[in-house]
Amino acid sequence: MKAHMIQGTKITLTPALPSDRQTVYEWCFHSETTKCHAGPPDYPEAPIASAEEFFRENGGYEDYFFTGERPRDGRGFLIMHGGKAVGFVSYASFHLKPGVTECDIWMNSEAHCGKGFGTDALVALTEYLNREQGVHTLIMRPCARNARAVRAYNKAGFVPSAKPIDAYMLTEYLSLFGDGDYGPGGDALLVKPMITYRDTHAFTPQALQDLFLSVEWSSGHYPEKLAAAMQNFGTVYSAWETDAAGNECLVGLISAMDDGVMTAYVHYLLVHPAYQRRGIGKRLVELIREHYREYLRIVVVAYNAEVDFYASCGFKKADGASAMFITSLWT
Ligand SMILES: CC(C)(COP(=O)(O)OP(=O)(O)OC[C@H]1O[C@@H](n2cnc3c(N)ncnc32)[C@H](O)[C@@H]1OP(=O)(O)O)[C@@H](O)C(=O)NCCC(=O)NCCS
Repeated sequence: MKAHMIQGTKITLTPALPSDRQTVYEWCFHSETTKCHAGPPDYPEAPIASAEEFFRENGGYEDYFFTGERPRDGRGFLIMHGGKAVGFVSYASFHLKPGVTECDIWMNSEAHCGKGFGTDALVALTEYLNREQGVHTLIMRPCARNARAVRAYNKAGFVPSAKPIDAYMLTEYLSLFGDGDYGPGGDALLVKPMITYRDTHAFTPQALQDLFLSVEWSSGHYPEKLAAAMQNFGTVYSAWETDAAGNECLVGLISAMDDGVMTAYVHYLLVHPAYQRRGIGKRLVELIREHYREYLRIVVVAYNAEVDFYASCGFKKADGASAMFITSLWT
């Protein structure tokens, strides 16, 4: 897979090239921002690395970060704003369990810090990795004392990990990288769980019950019927979160039936309350719209409170039509 430009809100990420190697090293260890993460007086435990150490094999910024030869192991990007490079962001996965990736980032001057570029770069990169590589968990390990970095990473969706590093790292790398750059306990282990989207029809009754009852839908009291219904719907897309132990939790779902050529009916769309307002519902609707793009009509019966949400997804309220039911369900 070839890395291409990644568009953020304020910045653009462009894949770093071999000609950027030395510059990127200098931004990291010989620039105005270096004192914020390495070297005395504030970070004596994280000495200024030499270029050889920075580019070393097995754990350093090897060539593939600048050539894209091993996209599953890692890649570097220049952070661009107004046509100028303002910093560098990278991910590395070679040392981590499947689906887990570690990010690192630094700006090249103080003038480029505190403008939201770092947060924006991390949001854009993490969404790209989730979408293109199926990454479900991202970690970062800044020094716990680097308050600005921790703040920016929090804003980008990273939160303190409830699990230690061995939940994410391959055992054979623990002795090398387990302590991070700041010695035992010196870093803040932050994690950003991402949502994975699937088109499966196979659900356990329990997962469906938990999700449906979380939004107080009475159909959640019929979990066996729901599991059979999901097998029978023409189209089902679901959203999953993976925890540090690799267990997946169902957090959202959309299902539809169709006549095969012209009309599709969206029947269920629900997102667990703890995961609402994160774009999951919108993404599920996008998946359905894409699936039925050749159809002439997609119908949804919306609760009045959800009309604005569906309008923002491209639906129009019907004039002169009302939804009518014969039902024994109560919500
Ligand atoms: C860490 C870094 C990449 C973050 O990128 P950035 O573009 O500066 O981050 P943002 O502007 O998106 O966010 C920074 C936040 O920290 C806040 N902040 C600034 N100084 C702070 C401080 N001393 N304590 C706490 N928060 C601070 C800012 O106000 C902002 O939050 P706000 O938007 O809520 O006001 C960048 O600051 C940097 O390169 N620092 C030097 C190198 C470094 O430390 N790299 C990290 C190595 S792990």
